[in-house]
Amino acid sequence: MHESNSMTENRKWDHIEICLKKEIESTVSNGLEDVKLIHNPLPEIDLEEIDTRVEFLGREFSLPVVISGMTGGNPRTKKINEVLARISEEFRIPMGLGSQRAAIENPELEDTYSIAREVAPNAFLIGNLGAVQLNEYTIDEIERAIEMIDANAMALHLNPLQEAIQPEGDTNFSGLSDKISEIAKEIRVPLIVKEVGSGIPMEVAETLERSGVSAIDVQGLGGTSWAAVEAERSDGVFKRIGEEFRDWGIKTSMSLIEVLHSAPKVEVIASGGIRRGSEIAKAIALGASAAGIALPILRAVVKGEEFLRMELEYLRKGLEITMFLTGSRNIEELRRAKLVLTGETREWLEWRGIKSWRR
Ligand SMILES: Cc1cc2nc3c(=O)[nH]c(=O)nc-3n(C[C@H](O)[C@H](O)[C@H](O)COP(=O)(O)O)c2cc1C
Repeated sequence: MHESNSMTENRKWDHIEICLKKEIESTVSNGLEDVKLIHNPLPEIDLEEIDTRVEFLGREFSLPVVISGMTGGNPRTKKINEVLARISEEFRIPMGLGSQRAAIENPELEDTYSIAREVAPNAFLIGNLGAVQLNEYTIDEIERAIEMIDANAMALHLNPLQEAIQPEGDTNFSGLSDKISEIAKEIRVPLIVKEVGSGIPMEVAETLERSGVSAIDVQGLGGTSWAAVEAERSDGVFKRIGEEFRDWGIKTSMSLIEVLHSAPKVEVIASGGIRRGSEIAKAIALGASAAGIALPILRAVVKGEEFLRMELEYLRKGLEITMFLTGSRNIEELRRAKLVLTGETREWLEWRGIKSWRR
């Protein structure tokens, strides 16, 4: 179904308000509780010397954390993107913008995205569009999105669940892998493919690697649930369907391991329900290049810049302490940290026939 520009614009703000005010996370965990890092009471390092710098997508960052794509497209979101971008530059971490479709359709909204580049000339900014938009868009629109923020990378999101439970959703997902492959060949910045909270399985990761994408951002089950968000905006059948699918998907721990296993040449970002520094450490120890975080960042930024700084300091501290307690001086050493995999994640991998994935 085709919708008007102002519908896209209003929906953007609805989503933010719902995410701020309602319980919209999945009722199940992200699976990372099944990953036990082995405690080392004799780490032989000084907490003060721990180095969290990391390199991925061709750049060095001070922390293995990505601000996942969230917003833009409504005049009220401009301030959010402004603060996120300033902090992304200050902390030297990448920032994703929300879907730029609103500005492709209505250029008057471009400033709600381009403000990020204005205030953060050196930040690593990631553009964003829905993969399903490739039914209408060609490389020209993708290039416009890149130019709008002078993007360092471009993300295409896969959100079939969200589209299916939006009364106005775009639900024709046929033929999209070929289109993603064409974009990957023509685009001049790294292409990232991400989910939005239901995860990516190994079969799709294999297809994406063959398509030539540079990175996969798993965005697994265990955090923000778009089915829950859409249930809050609907009534009748769509509300009930949104509730039914609230916990649909592949948990972050499982999706991360599946993607690492089947797409060994792409960089992998772990995301979906990551809320703590110790979880970032677990994701890195499993093999992720970095961890992506959305909802807690949104909830902090609307309270003010200081709250966002505090949230990132909290994540940094948790990561550093986990590195200390596993005897990992730097991110390379954390990648080799000893771990035990238990519970549902272990069962899942056995069933899926995955025995090795670490790089
Ligand atoms: C308010 C809000 C808006 C979002 N908008 C987008 C978007 O436009 N494009 C996108 O790819 N993902 C979008 N996401 C999804 C996030 O990037 C992420 O995949 C998801 O929230 C799971 O991460 P979390 O559990 O840390 O929140 C949005 C998330 C939130 C909370």
